[in-house]
Amino acid sequence: MILFESLGLLQCICIAVVLLVTYPLCRGIYNVTFHPLARFPGPRLWGASRIPFIRSFLTGNLVHDIEKLHQQYGPTIRIAPNEITFSHPDAWNDIFQLRPGHLPFEIDPVWWGTPPGQPESMASAASEMVHRRMRRVLGYGFTQRALRAQEPIIQKYASMLIDRLRDQIGVSSNSDDAVVDIVSWFNFFTFDLFGDLGFDESFECLQHSEYHPWISLIFNNIKATCFIITARFYPLIDSILVKCIPKSIKKLQSDHYQQVRDKVQRRLTREIQRPDLMDSVMKNNEKLESMSLQEIESTFAILAIAASETTATVLSGTFNHLLCHPEMLKTLVEEARSHFAKEEDMTLDALKPLAYLNAVLNEGLRVCPPVPIMLPRLVPKGGDTICGIRFPGGTSVSFQSRALFRNPEYFHKSTSFLPERYLPEARKPDSPFYNDKLDIVLPFGLGLRGCLGKDLAWAEMRLAIARLVWRFDVEFVGTPVKWEELKTFLLVEKKPVMIRIRERKDFTLLQSSEFRPQQWARSALPALKSSAPRPDPSLFRRRYALHRLPRTVLSTADVHPPSRFIGPSGCNRLPIKMWQLPIPIVVLVLSQLCTFFNSISATPLSAQQAMRFSPARLLSASVLVNLTSTAVCTNLYVSSYAGDITSLQLIKSADDTYSLTKIAANNGSSPSPTWLEKDSKTGIVYGLDEGFTSPNGSISSYKPSSSGVLTQIDRHLTLGGPVSSILYNEGKSLAVAHYGGSALSTWNILPTGGLSPGQNFLFTLTKPGANPARQEAPHPHEALVDPTDSFIVVPDLGADLIRVFSIDKATSDLTEQTPFPVAAGSGPRHGAFLESAALKACKKESYGCMATSAQANNGTFFFLISELANTVTSYKVTYGEKSLGFEQVFQSGTYGNQTTPVGAASAEAILSPDHKYLLTSSRNATILNIPNFNTTNSTTLPSDTLQSWSINPTTGKLTFEQLAPAGGAFPRQFSVNKKGDLAAVGLQQSARVVILERNVLDGTFGKFVAEIGVPGEVTSVVWDE
Ligand code: HEM
Repeated sequence: MILFESLGLLQCICIAVVLLVTYPLCRGIYNVTFHPLARFPGPRLWGASRIPFIRSFLTGNLVHDIEKLHQQYGPTIRIAPNEITFSHPDAWNDIFQLRPGHLPFEIDPVWWGTPPGQPESMASAASEMVHRRMRRVLGYGFTQRALRAQEPIIQKYASMLIDRLRDQIGVSSNSDDAVVDIVSWFNFFTFDLFGDLGFDESFECLQHSEYHPWISLIFNNIKATCFIITARFYPLIDSILVKCIPKSIKKLQSDHYQQVRDKVQRRLTREIQRPDLMDSVMKNNEKLESMSLQEIESTFAILAIAASETTATVLSGTFNHLLCHPEMLKTLVEEARSHFAKEEDMTLDALKPLAYLNAVLNEGLRVCPPVPIMLPRLVPKGGDTICGIRFPGGTSVSFQSRALFRNPEYFHKSTSFLPERYLPEARKPDSPFYNDKLDIVLPFGLGLRGCLGKDLAWAEMRLAIARLVWRFDVEFVGTPVKWEELKTFLLVEKKPVMIRIRERKDFTLLQSSEFRPQQWARSALPALKSSAPRPDPSLFRRRYALHRLPRTVLSTADVHPPSRFIGPSGCNRLPIKMWQLPIPIVVLVLSQLCTFFNSISATPLSAQQAMRFSPARLLSASVLVNLTSTAVCTNLYVSSYAGDITSLQLIKSADDTYSLTKIAANNGSSPSPTWLEKDSKTGIVYGLDEGFTSPNGSISSYKPSSSGVLTQIDRHLTLGGPVSSILYNEGKSLAVAHYGGSALSTWNILPTGGLSPGQNFLFTLTKPGANPARQEAPHPHEALVDPTDSFIVVPDLGADLIRVFSIDKATSDLTEQTPFPVAAGSGPRHGAFLESAALKACKKESYGCMATSAQANNGTFFFLISELANTVTSYKVTYGEKSLGFEQVFQSGTYGNQTTPVGAASAEAILSPDHKYLLTSSRNATILNIPNFNTTNSTTLPSDTLQSWSINPTTGKLTFEQLAPAGGAFPRQFSVNKKGDLAAVGLQQSARVVILERNVLDGTFGKFVAEIGVPGEVTSVVWDE
């Protein structure tokens, strides 16, 4: 103390800096010279410091890097100052089996922590006694007898997998095939099955063809979990991270865990006898004497992931390899189809003897092990031997299964996928595989903590693969995934495997049998979409009848159910504060200091101490990493003629990459969702349904949860064919343009977010317009409100009019004013207003500025896009007492300086948020080509276009700036985020939503940063920010 007091601040800082630099250096030198593990082979740098290991781990390359190091340095290598790893068969027995006269090797707490707030699970129990107590109880659910009793549940999900795949055929086109990402479908299958076996509650992924938000969150945070683990190598960092977690994130994590707790508790309170995993736990642990309620919850939370992800990874990897070898696939198909005449004959027992199926799966487990590294154990106190070599107590020892399984010393053509090595012929001396050491392939581990679910996993894998190839003819679409190159972030980071499935030609429905798995699955799917081809929407449009409805005749009788997924999504809306940003850097600096202080103290942290620290840290670090890794997270809503409003989540990672994920779907605006509008003040989303299968459309309101799940508040039938809506009169009412119904309707918004009908304006034509095919009747295409919130303006495609309605601010009633005629046959479709500078200034100065005509008169412009003429026109707008005047000041073809392509159909026109650019889209002219979003597919994609125009705010004239690819076919509608740097485009004919970057400075569209397929014809996409 005296020494420190006598030193100045500068000197203290200098000493700290010197220590920071010299300590790691000295430590590194010690590690490679005098450290007890210094004599073991391995790269010097890895032995000197943990950093190279961490770098390799965090970049997902650890598995590959260590395999290479084993090839270079042999089967026993040092990969960190205190860690040795093995790829020698003898190490299996020495590390994982209990050897007589030896103590067990306990798990290394750095890797097996429990998240904060969660009790110890079977997986994290370091003490062998505690672990054995729990394993005994859980083990009853995994016996052969239990598996036999569980067969109907397993069959049910296999049937559902097949049925739901069958449902995909013909959905996006009228063909007899479907292209699916089989990786997702295998995941849906394994997660749903575990949900049922574990909690008696499926995750319903198969039913909805998408991940449950609980699962999405896990996948989205897996990289964060890797950071947590690395933070645990520096205990002080870990404890600092704990203190930095914002409350909201703690809540997000605890909500996530709470969902599993709720599932467990619901299952435990259900007085039912069913042969699931929980039933065994209850029967053999009646008084919770061997496993507490908290331990059950914690264990099942981990199992849900461990059981499902592993099995799905083997299924996906194996299938990927099979598809690369059509001759192997053919053999498998022949085996399955020749053995079974009917799907229901494929019982678990009947599948067991299929030699080729077993060989394929065994080879899949060898080449694509889902647990490529067996996580470290600790050499017991006093030291022990492994592979005949003595190691000091506390040494961390891991095992490289994948490196061993691919070692050419033990396997002929070790890195190739060759199921033949597992066939009986391979055991003959003349076989090239005769010397293969198949018994050292132990993908399920072994010993005290070996996999309990091995038989269940085999049952699932046999059934899924056999049923798939029995029912469907399958082939690759594009190029296969290079499985051996996939990164591993604790879990193998799988890439989509796109396959084309077609029902086998000779398939006939098997009606006679009593046991019909397909029927089970169907009964569990109440709200599935029809697999029948969808009718052409334009046909419906032409058939629309004009329904003259009195003002209040439409009712709420047809209100639809709420969103399919209720619960938190994978979207972490992280409240990052500026002060939190430098934390990771500070923490890293501190880490060096704390390592130093830890090491100079006489008693460095023991394993037990580390264990005490780690639970609290687990999630905390994850949370902090989340802060940086998923810091930008936005929801979007997408309407599609497939019947759903889909909630998407756009996540921007720390490395500036984006991902789009589906988080929920709501069919409350079915059958033909066509337009979405979000009230930025109340958050309520309004959805229109064009109602192709009935004379009426409908309007609904939805309340979004913070995670983007929509719950329907209200629904009313409307006049036919609603296509666009706009909030007006300070958000008190909504005006709706009806293309098919030739009308404009208004709706009053109730305090509850519900809707009550207002007025209906019905329009007629005395004779068809200049383009009779499209102008046989009035077709109001959009409803817009002027910048003073005093007029509704409606471009009418059928009547070549800009219709104008004045707003009564007291009642929200509209009065029709004299419309403005535009060029005959031009087909005005959409538009956008530019407010005058004076009005803008007024709004900026005072919230709720009482806009006057005088403020608006000078400098308000209206931009109109006309679908049939393919023009963009600017009008100077003049304000009269009860009317609007339009004076054309500019016109151009939609393609600016380029000739308009034949067949083009201009669509959307919106202003950029800074009001400096007009952004338009055009359809039916796929004049550009873009690289395929599936990077393994070299075929380019045809694309329609977006256009960007800069606006002269004084004259209202436009300058054409850019023709950009829209990301696919038919960009019917698009929207831009608040910041203006991202555009979301709904591609009607590509069944896709893409996100493009936008340069806010020059107004141009940039590269595509994310995309996602959305079933059916996408009609609109809006941001929820
Ligand atoms: C192909 C699929 C699977 C593979 C390759 C696999 C692999 C493994 C491995 C290697 C371990 C041991 C980890 C270690 O010792 O460090 C393990 C543990 C475990 N597995 Fe699996 N697993 C699979 C599927 C399943 C399934 C479907 C379930 C259950 C539904 C399951 C339940 C368990 C349990 C409970 C443990 C922990 C045992 C203990 O700590 O005592 N596994 N698994």
